[in-house]
Amino acid sequence: MYLYPVWIRLWHIINAILFIILIVTGLSMQYTDKQDYILVVSFARAVKWHNISAVLLTVNYIFFVTSNLISENGRYYRISKKNFGSDLFKQLRYYSWNMFKGEKHPFPVTTERKFNPLQKFSYVLAMYFAFPLLILSGLGLMFPETIINRIFGISGLVLTDILHITMGFCLTIFMVIHIYTCTLGARPSSLFKGIISGYHESE
Ligand code: HEM
Repeated sequence: MYLYPVWIRLWHIINAILFIILIVTGLSMQYTDKQDYILVVSFARAVKWHNISAVLLTVNYIFFVTSNLISENGRYYRISKKNFGSDLFKQLRYYSWNMFKGEKHPFPVTTERKFNPLQKFSYVLAMYFAFPLLILSGLGLMFPETIINRIFGISGLVLTDILHITMGFCLTIFMVIHIYTCTLGARPSSLFKGIISGYHESE
């Protein structure tokens, strides 16, 4: 079943590579000592590569949102209120219990339903909530003169920094869980092959 057109595969691979560079350089900036301790890359190099990757990630993100708006792929991200909670619970129950009893997926993949309810919910949260906040707070840190000086007596720069680090942390956790759930297809490698070839392998 052909589910991942070329533009999604291209967006996804660029996004994944840039995201990993941003995690590594972000952690480097956090933990590298300007004098004698270097975590992976030096502080100056980490800043440079973090900024370059962030700009490219933003352009790639705008490409993702625009393409989802004008293509059929956007419909997979629309959450319907009908049975939302119960479907989410069914999927959670499958991942935490029924899967280990060898039961079948409660929401098999079709061309009408590419994502199961939990996937859809987490992708919407990651791509349309955490990602914009990560990008906006990152832009604020890149151009600190645009940040409001004080919000309720607290430094605007510190608040923007906390928001940026929190979103980066949440999206990193998202990526780890995302990679794990991507091993739960027909075979452990099926979904990874799908996002490279474009074809989903059904059970
Ligand atoms: C090395 C890192 C990554 C790997 C190995 C990976 C793997 C995959 C695989 C196998 C799929 C296809 C299965 C599916 O449709 O759910 C997929 C889709 C997806 N991934 Fe990732 N991923 C990675 C990083 C990321 C990151 C960092 C994000 C965003 C923060 C992300 C967001 C998505 C989204 C939104 C889709 C669905 C795209 C669509 O079909 O519309 N992934 N990923």
